[in-house]
Formats: sequence, C-alpha cells, structure tokens
Amino acid sequence: MGTGTARYVLLLAARALLVSALLAAFFTAAAAEYVRPPPGRIILTEHTEPAAHPQQVHVSAVGANHMRVSWVTDDKRVPSVVEYGRSSRNYTASATGEHTSYRYFLYTSGKIHHVKIGPLEPGTVYYYRCGMAGREFSLRTPPAALPIELVLVGDLGQTEWTASTLAHVGKADHDMVLVPGDLSYADAQQPLWDTFGRFVQRHASRRPWMATQGNHEVEAPPIPSSSPPPPFAAYGARWPAPHEESGSPSSLYYSFEAAGGAVHVAMLGSYAPFGAGSDQYRWLARDLAGVDRRATPWVVVLLHAPWYNTNAAHQGEGEAMREAMERLLFDARVDVVFAGHVHAYERFTRVYNNEANPCGPVYITIGDGGNREGLAFDFEKNHKLAPLSVTREASFGHGRLRVVNATTAHWAWHRNADAESVVRDEIWLDSLAANAACRQQQGGPAAVDPWNDEL
Ligand SMILES: [Fe+2]
Repeated sequence: MGTGTARYVLLLAARALLVSALLAAFFTAAAAEYVRPPPGRIILTEHTEPAAHPQQVHVSAVGANHMRVSWVTDDKRVPSVVEYGRSSRNYTASATGEHTSYRYFLYTSGKIHHVKIGPLEPGTVYYYRCGMAGREFSLRTPPAALPIELVLVGDLGQTEWTASTLAHVGKADHDMVLVPGDLSYADAQQPLWDTFGRFVQRHASRRPWMATQGNHEVEAPPIPSSSPPPPFAAYGARWPAPHEESGSPSSLYYSFEAAGGAVHVAMLGSYAPFGAGSDQYRWLARDLAGVDRRATPWVVVLLHAPWYNTNAAHQGEGEAMREAMERLLFDARVDVVFAGHVHAYERFTRVYNNEANPCGPVYITIGDGGNREGLAFDFEKNHKLAPLSVTREASFGHGRLRVVNATTAHWAWHRNADAESVVRDEIWLDSLAANAACRQQQGGPAAVDPWNDEL
C-alpha cells in the first residue's frame, strides 16, 4: 500500500468515525426496536503469498457450459493456464486463455488472467489451479434445470458490513451471485480494486459472479490529464462480461441464460447510452424479442440506478433510463427488475409507468451490500410512489431469488442483524409467462415496435 493510499484510507477512517458517531447518536434516539448499523471499517485484504501465486480469483459463467476463471499475479511470467478436474489434485484438463493489464496514472495493474474452461458438466464441483502455482480452488457449476438459487448483492464495497453480508451469503447454498453494480468503491484508488478482489475471492472463486456496472465503476480521472485513462478501465480489465455470447457490442450490457434456459438474465448498463436508437436500446429490443417464454418462463433484469425509488438518495437518477426503456421491459413481460445504487432495501409491487400493473415487473432495490458510504436512511413518506412501495428499510443485507419451477419463484431479503441473517421480506412470485391475462396483452395493439419507438 503506497503513501497516497495510506493517507486516503486514514481520511476515510476519520470520516467513517465521524459519520458513525453522528448516526449512532441519532439512531439511538430514533430507533427503539432496531439500531441500524453505522458504516463499517474498511478491510484491506493483503496478498501474503509469493508473487506467482494467484490472487483475486473469481469465476463467471460464459455460455451454457463454460466458466471464465479470472485472477491476478504480480509476477508477469505466470502463464494464463487453468488446470482442472472433478477430483482434488487430479487435473484431467487444462485451458489456456488471455491476459491483460492496465495503467491508471501512476498505477500499473498486475497481470490479469482470464481463462475459459469447459465444456463442463452442470451442477458439478470442479477443482482447479491457476497459473500452475499456488493453492487449489474449487467451484460448482450452475444447474442445467430448475430449481436455481440466485443471490443478489449490490453496492458491496469492502467493509466489515460487506464481510457480514458475504458471510451470510456463504452460510446457505446458492448457485450464482448477481451484482447490480458498485463493486470495490476504489474510486480511482486502484489498489482498492486489488484489495476488493482478494476480499471477495473466498466467495467469488466458488460460484459464478455475474455483474453489471455502477457509477463507482466509471472512475473518471480525478485530475485533468492530456491522456486520461478510459472510463471503466479497471472494471473492464478485471470483471469482463460474456457480452459477445448474447450479441451485445459492449461489456457494459449483456444477457445470459441460467438453469438450462429457464431463466433469462439481462444485465443493463445505467452508465452506457440507453436512449432510443442507442446500441444498448437496439440490443435490448433484439435480446428480449428473442426470448421464447414457453421455453424461458422467467426473465430477470439487473441495472444500477433504480427506476422506482422513494428514497431521497439518488432520487430521479434512473428516470431518463426508465422513460427510454421501461416499455421494452413491460412488453416483454419481464418478471423482476433488480437495482442497486440506493444503499437500502425497497420492494415495489408490480408496476408500469408509475402505476400498479399486474403485468409489470416487480422492482427491487438491493443496494445494501455494506459499502463504506453507509446506509440511505431517508425514505420519503409522501413520495408519489410510496403507495406502490411494499417494503422499504435502510439496513445492510442480501437477497435470494429461488426459482422453483416454471411458474413459481420465492424472493427473500435477508437483513444483517449482528451474527444472524434474518429474513425481513419475502414474497412468492408467479411467472408472467404463466399469467394468461398478461400473455394475451403481450404483442397486442399497445405493444412497442422496438425499431421505431418514439417514447
Ligand atoms: Fe451507485
């Protein structure tokens, strides 16, 4: 950790202490039944092994039966090779991938390796070793059919509260983790991307983590420069998305199938152009039009800045994207839309165009992973959308979407309460593909022509 990073971390710690004291004083007086936690201390996870050994290992799904293994080495001579097999230390296959690195002003990243392994059997544990050095890891591939359990964690950061959230995630089985943006909170302090990668490795090396970008991934240069690093320099190099597999021209938005195609997950980019005529809009229209709801009863969307939000934090920031794209989602009968950005939990009823609609998606904000900025406490009682908001609470936690079968899924939000993970909100969801009334409306006179949408 350099001197600049140390000073930065000290500043953060001082600010966190001040905020903690103010919040503790306020909430001791205001909350009788549950004292909500202040922002947690940042945890800086070091790499203590040799430079050739892998660090920041995480895996992500690529296509139906492949996984991408990503890791970093300080030693630039390490080959981008993954050996793997179905029993420990008995590697029956190996794959060679690619590597990259990036510069951000005075910072130069380590060697960032990405290796696609497969074809793999579904629902199977594989043991693997990265770069022919260091310890063995293991992962489990997602199932090829329902049921599937998807964990949702947004706005993670790397604090004591993030550690609590991930500990709760790890205590119960799951198949995949979906992150609706804001991962490291490095905010241009690039070593914090490295500490974040080490921080999540324990979880992200075992199950596929699929992410989309948040505003903290943009990392606009903090100082003027004649040759600034491009937006998403760190995020793009470290957390690549399988966008080409879904015909997307950008890693900032893409889609993939889960559970053998029973669940279609579209990851949208709140910080990529989204207006009618944009590449993202055209891709999304094509992507949703290509979903056969008889074969794919569930469609889930993730994005960062929520379209529906009654919290004072980030109020209205998702509105332009909602106005541009909401009709595409509604006409496709998207079942659930998950967002982050607001550091709290909020679940709406089924909504379309600011009104309750039984054929619209359920909107859920799950930006409460535990980052250093703390919670967004100020839900507006008289917000015009308040009657549509079913549950809202400023607490850290995570969510679980268990898609049981073609018609039924269960959503639960787990609040971090000390050492326990407490279910504070849950709902059974019926697939809109199984809703005859909604199916009849789909493609009717009101349906949008995705190529000529004047919204
Ligand atoms: Fe955000």
